[in-house]
Amino acid sequence: MAQLWGGRFTKETDQLVYNFNASISFDKKFYKQDIEGSIAHVCMLGRQGILTKEEMQAIVKCLDEIRGDVEAGRLEITDEYEDIHSFVEANLIDRLGDTGKKLHTGRSRNDQVALDMRLYTRLEVLYTDGLLEELLETILKIMEDNTETIMPGFTHLQKAQPITLAHHMGAYFEMFKRDRQRLFDIFKRMNYCPLGSGALAGTTYPLDREYTAELMGFDGPTLNSMDGVSDRDYLIEFLSALSMIMMHLSRFSEEIIIWNSNEYQFVEIDDAYSTGSSIMPQKKNPDIAELVRGKTGRVYGALMSLLTTMKGIPLAYNKDMQEDKELAFDAMDTVKGCLALFQGMLATMKFHRERMRRSASCGFTNATDAADYLVNHGVPFRDAHGIVGRIVLYCIEKGIAIDEMSLEELKAISPVFENDIYEAISMETCVNKRLTVGAPGKSAMEAAIAAGRKYLEENHDTDWFTVTREA
Ligand code: ARG
Repeated sequence: MAQLWGGRFTKETDQLVYNFNASISFDKKFYKQDIEGSIAHVCMLGRQGILTKEEMQAIVKCLDEIRGDVEAGRLEITDEYEDIHSFVEANLIDRLGDTGKKLHTGRSRNDQVALDMRLYTRLEVLYTDGLLEELLETILKIMEDNTETIMPGFTHLQKAQPITLAHHMGAYFEMFKRDRQRLFDIFKRMNYCPLGSGALAGTTYPLDREYTAELMGFDGPTLNSMDGVSDRDYLIEFLSALSMIMMHLSRFSEEIIIWNSNEYQFVEIDDAYSTGSSIMPQKKNPDIAELVRGKTGRVYGALMSLLTTMKGIPLAYNKDMQEDKELAFDAMDTVKGCLALFQGMLATMKFHRERMRRSASCGFTNATDAADYLVNHGVPFRDAHGIVGRIVLYCIEKGIAIDEMSLEELKAISPVFENDIYEAISMETCVNKRLTVGAPGKSAMEAAIAAGRKYLEENHDTDWFTVTREA
């Protein structure tokens, strides 16, 4: 047991208590952030004359070495330390003796852990954004290639009206674009530095909190020290944004599973992203899409868990807050994995354009347009609706599509029909007459694609640190 406290205790900690309390098994994940924060803290202490220049330089150099040793595998982070903060400090003291003991001047593990988690999360927000950007690129490419790929659009999973694959993909483009915007908003709000909040009430040392904040790329220090150590809102917001991403991925996965089914065969998932069955040789299963759909549950779980953990905690720090880490880390890793795999699956998926088109023409998806034709020839809409309803019934009985009826058959139901009905209800006409903003018609879709391209160009690899500071 290596711990940072014990002076006021007369008994050893019970081993089970020690194990229950320790967080090293998971907070070692942010050893880099812990060292980064310590270096910034010590630089500030040196600048303020709280440590001498020599002490500052020695500590910074040694922290750097510890980081290098961990990275190179020369120094192992083991369970003999209570947490990552103890690990770093104990190693520093081992190497530097008394000078090392000065690192923690004007700092508490409460503001330290608040900082570490924020630094770690901030980076995860950026990684997630990068993966979303790649996914958006893939979606936009499919859109560009498929403005003329006609497929049925569904409501209630019943064929409704013809759309294009570009249009369907475009819906997901909008969703994942909003997900990126959410991440940016969260980044702006969270980018304040809690270091210097102390245990809860600041410190008596003349710390320069603006300086430490600036060293680590924050927009400034947090403005209330009690809030500084006990705020986990940013993490809850991030878990909520991650949940939203998973919800979108899960809906998309569900559609791909349906499209990939034997009945639909709209798409074929690449062999590299499918799996087989141990017993049924014919099987090629969409496991990746199913797993993404399934993993959504655990990300929601992380959000609910942290919301629940935080709801009853009095100010300021309480140990409950140590529970902010494991599930959050799991959620972050899960979403990154899902985004990367989903993108790969989508980029390699084959679209069976002929089947999509046939499915659109066989499902009365042009019934609305047939009714519109009658309306354009003076029939009140409600009557037109009834006439086309009878046409659909007739077609179902005969097993044909509306445009497979002869003009005589059509006229028998309504004399208003003329030869131009066939042109009016062709799949191409149905799609391309829909030209309102956001509709599937080719020129409307091209405008949407151009807007999407512009968005990606303007939001590529953004340096959020500079952007938020200027804002
Ligand atoms: N492992 C702790 C956590 O994750 C670090 C902070 C400990 N602070 C304390 N007062 N016990 O929250």
